[in-house]
Amino acid sequence: MKTIAINSIKGGTGKSTMTILFVNALTKSGYKCLVIDADASNNSLSFYLNDGEISQQKSIFDLFLGAKVEECNIRINDNLDLIRGDVRLNEFRSTDSLKRLKRSLQGQKYDYCIIDTSPTYDNIIGNVLMASDVLLIPVQQDIFSYQAVKYQFEKLVDLELADLDTHIIFNQFEKPLTDNQNSYRNQITNMFLNDEAFNAFINPCHISRSSVFRKFINGQNYKISDKTETQKGYEEVKALIKSILSIDIKEVI
Ligand SMILES: Nc1ncnc2c1ncn2[C@@H]1O[C@H](COP(=O)(O)OP(=O)(O)O)[C@@H](O)[C@H]1O
Ligand SMILES: [Mg+2]
Repeated sequence: MKTIAINSIKGGTGKSTMTILFVNALTKSGYKCLVIDADASNNSLSFYLNDGEISQQKSIFDLFLGAKVEECNIRINDNLDLIRGDVRLNEFRSTDSLKRLKRSLQGQKYDYCIIDTSPTYDNIIGNVLMASDVLLIPVQQDIFSYQAVKYQFEKLVDLELADLDTHIIFNQFEKPLTDNQNSYRNQITNMFLNDEAFNAFINPCHISRSSVFRKFINGQNYKISDKTETQKGYEEVKALIKSILSIDIKEVI
């Protein structure tokens, strides 16, 4: 099983959106997936996948307490199980063990485990990172995203996670409106590209800011009408997944 964490210290960068895009693409392509909502304060992923239902099922909180995956997983479809989020996960923000989650996931037979997270740096995130093989960091072209990534890389060094396959991904990407390198968007983009602490980890693929993703994610039954825009979005997701996992995706949504 390959475990993929999706985390950025800045909020609203598209962690849950990217989790849903990966989960959809992987399960529609026949891979068995476990998705975990480790966002202690905003369980938007559980809400989305559970169709808005507040579940009484055991959660990520119980998993951290030592419950087995088999006691907590909620069957969403033939290829997907969910471990739902839980505000009580906050109890573990300063847990002294960073290996709780890694232990719980050991020996699981899913193809992929995908973990959505909070925009924080604490020992819950430490647990997620220790359990993961791949880290995706969605960023926006703004100064707060830049500062957050810089901080995050210092923390990755502290945790000695040099083997974590890390990708910084521009989400809600917008092409600069002008070639003028002094324009705000160009300046910010160049700050990312020129920062030697992490520029080697910037994935060349990006996900554009698009109504295809915004409307799809915010309303599951929304029918997307602009075929060109939809196709462009799908191609971006396929290329991104190929670059990270080296697999061909059949369907995206
Ligand atoms: N590529 C995108 N294009 C358009 N809107 C997006 C895109 N990615 C995310 N959004 C929107 O941005 C908001 C924040 O995204 P979300 O995935 O909830 O971020 P996070 O989980 O990091 O807080 C949501 O309203 C979402 O629909
Ligand atoms: Mg989220």
